Amino acid sequence: MAELAIRGGTPVRPEGYPAWPVWDEREVDAVASVVRSGNWGGFPEPGPNAAAFEAKFAAYQGAKHGILMANGTVTMEVALKALGIGWGDEVIVPALTFAATAYAPMAAGAVPVIVDVTHDTWTIDPTLVEAAITPKTKAVIPVHLGQQMADMDRLLEIARAHSLAIVEDCAHAHGQQWNGKGAGCIGEFGSFSHQSSKILTAGEGGTLLTSDDELARRAHSIIDCGRAKDSEEKEYTFGANYRLGELHAALLVTQMNRFEEQRKEREAAGKYFEEIATQVPGVHIMPRDPRITRWSFYNYIFAIEPELFGGATNEVVAYALEEEGIPAEVQYPPMSRYDLFQPSLSRLPVAVEFAERLDPAKMSFPVAEDAGLRRSIYLMENTFRAGKEGIEHAVEALAKVQKHADELAGLPA
Ligand SMILES: Cc1ncc(COP(=O)(O)O)c(C=O)c1O
Repeated sequence: MAELAIRGGTPVRPEGYPAWPVWDEREVDAVASVVRSGNWGGFPEPGPNAAAFEAKFAAYQGAKHGILMANGTVTMEVALKALGIGWGDEVIVPALTFAATAYAPMAAGAVPVIVDVTHDTWTIDPTLVEAAITPKTKAVIPVHLGQQMADMDRLLEIARAHSLAIVEDCAHAHGQQWNGKGAGCIGEFGSFSHQSSKILTAGEGGTLLTSDDELARRAHSIIDCGRAKDSEEKEYTFGANYRLGELHAALLVTQMNRFEEQRKEREAAGKYFEEIATQVPGVHIMPRDPRITRWSFYNYIFAIEPELFGGATNEVVAYALEEEGIPAEVQYPPMSRYDLFQPSLSRLPVAVEFAERLDPAKMSFPVAEDAGLRRSIYLMENTFRAGKEGIEHAVEALAKVQKHADELAGLPA
């Protein structure tokens, strides 16, 4: 008789984990009151709910300004445009992230220069950032991946030495702090996503944070069709409509009220997971950087040693965990695998002089490839909202899959 649920055995946690997003009548009332107001859109920008959320979220992270818009991809495009970055410029991005991090510079007209991540954090490797700088480099977009943060000390040092801007991709990092400073408040801009799976969500949406008045003004203008936002209404920008509607903004205001409590719950559960998951052979927990002074995470990322899982890849192990009732996934392939860089699908890279550098066949990111294709597994945020028992089930399932890894043989990778 097979033991693993994937082979017909009994799952560890058939009851599943709490649903996301969390909502009740407060969300219903907030949306209903926007409906009744008749003021559904995002114009004039910002609308009352948008302005309320921007102020609340910026204060929570520690920035002077928040600029709410359609999603956490255009946030980065707008940040680069507000910084004056575009045609002919280069922007350095990590090789292990969602495609949006590289898409954004392309949408702004710049070329993403992709560099590998470090072994111990799976965030952008500052040494490789430095090596990739050319006279055309204008910015770096570090990604705070999963529960990790990029080494902002080293990145700031490099950025200052080479006059580069930093746009932090904080799609996973609502609530994180680095040396007492909020994620997204360290570089020139911080970019956050409020898409359905994110821990501060309205289904869609994105926020840019900045403490620079001028940059904030330009970003507001760019997302509002280029309308002037200075008091004399003189400075127009090259913009389009990237506004978020008031229905979404109202949801964000209510979700913000729940955020800190949810963060604390995930933090406690995450620490417990780290304490007990190390007992499972072949499971590697990445060290938590002590410079992360307030810990928060979207999904939790860890590594497996495929050799200790009968040679199975992360994809197969995550699938087996799912079948045991544990919300696990492999999230990101190395950047070279995204359609963005498949020449037949994306013409921008081949239209400019960098075709050579954006040819996936010529890209090599050994650490991101090892992480994305063999070792990284994400536990979804709801694993960390089911108390100690939820964590114990996740670890029990990991141990079970490891112990019976022979049953994984032959499953499609
Ligand atoms: C690291 C990263 N950056 C950017 C994004 C883009 O956010 P959005 O889906 O809101 O455009 C996401 C999420 O999907 C992400 O995970």
